[in-house]
Amino acid sequence: MPDIFDSVIKGGTLVNHDGVGKADIGVRNGRIEAIGNIEASRAGEVIDATGLHVLPGVIDSQVHFREPGAEHKETLSDGSRSAVMGGVTAVFEMPNTNPLTTSAETLADKVAHGRAGMFCDFAFYVGATRENVDDLRDLERLPGSAGVKVFMGSSTGNLLVDDEESLSRVIAAVSRRAAFHSEDEARLIDREGVRREGDPASHTEWRDPEAALISTQRLVRLAREHGKRVHVLHISTGEEMEFLSKHKDVASVEATPQHLTLTVPEAYEALGTKAQMNPPLRDAAHQKILWWGLNQGVVDVLGSDHAPHTLEEKTQSYPASPSGMPGVQTLVPIMLDHVNAGMLSLERFVDLTSHGPQRIFGIARKGRIASGYDADFTIVDLAAKRTIEDDWIASRCGWTPFAERSVTGWPMGTIIRGRRVMWEDEILGEPSGEPVRFLEALSA
Ligand code: DOR
Repeated sequence: MPDIFDSVIKGGTLVNHDGVGKADIGVRNGRIEAIGNIEASRAGEVIDATGLHVLPGVIDSQVHFREPGAEHKETLSDGSRSAVMGGVTAVFEMPNTNPLTTSAETLADKVAHGRAGMFCDFAFYVGATRENVDDLRDLERLPGSAGVKVFMGSSTGNLLVDDEESLSRVIAAVSRRAAFHSEDEARLIDREGVRREGDPASHTEWRDPEAALISTQRLVRLAREHGKRVHVLHISTGEEMEFLSKHKDVASVEATPQHLTLTVPEAYEALGTKAQMNPPLRDAAHQKILWWGLNQGVVDVLGSDHAPHTLEEKTQSYPASPSGMPGVQTLVPIMLDHVNAGMLSLERFVDLTSHGPQRIFGIARKGRIASGYDADFTIVDLAAKRTIEDDWIASRCGWTPFAERSVTGWPMGTIIRGRRVMWEDEILGEPSGEPVRFLEALSA
């Protein structure tokens, strides 16, 4: 007698380690139990995916959800609503909140709020400081920890480790893969005078390619000295991409949809300070090399760097305007549009958003459509034509730099541990997010 599954996702085209092909998925107790041809009669619930592609759940390994401390910009709950509206099943959230996530207590507080209010699964980075270096070894292994995050150049918030000795101590202390914001603080301070009041385009001149490159070179040197692996966030320059392509043994690489999609000066002309972020958007020549790195396999993951600020804050005159733009909800549609335009394959998209995070962060039981894995799926309609609008954005900030952009390819459903959390642009049910687990901290 065949078993009855809690649900069967039927009729879809799976994109998997096996390639692309039609298959049904049987789910029980939140896990994938069978892949193949499964009779509808064996399903408690049938989820009809006819005409749709079923991808492993998209994992966004860089978001800023602002809670605690800046809930007027974003909350864990609203940020995660934005995630699942955009087809994202898990997020890794950044520590530059207030208080900073730099201790066991502040991490546990985020995990508790995540469990109570988040719609997607989650992990939280622990920020490195000069003061908590000796605790990092324990902090990176706590339940809900995504590992350590280091700001080598200052950005929103006041997390910064820029001197050689402290950086060296941090890299020596961690054993998991740590994530780095790589811009050289000394050069940024030196060049502050390059900024022009009221002109956000000067942001890109100030935080120049050299500031990113020298920082990334230093990071790779320190990683080698200490025999550690490092994850370099939001690569924006061609020079870094070429450099990192020669250091794949120690360095993993993130690219963002915004650096791959928007160029300057056009973005500043169209969006003003909305286009201001760190590291900054760059010109088409840099972007071309980012795509080269993506297509050559140098890039391991896509992160949205969802960094919401209110419109009121963003409309302050540069440089008083804060850096960052939302992105967790637009990652999937923007990148599917690139898939449709032939910039990357759907298989490569899955490699970047599921297999890549699974591989480099050692995520337990997520990131693949395979028996025994969590039943996390991003279900997409590759042919759907939509226009991204501000009023679709569930983030508390309520805007997107991609407003009015028409795309082909749309997230139709978000399934997390077997539960439909979003279907056809509607959020279903209550928050039920859980911490992501990692291979290097399985006892957590
Ligand atoms: O533009 C940015 N905004 N870059 C960062 O590194 C931080 C982020 C934020 O938190 O606003």
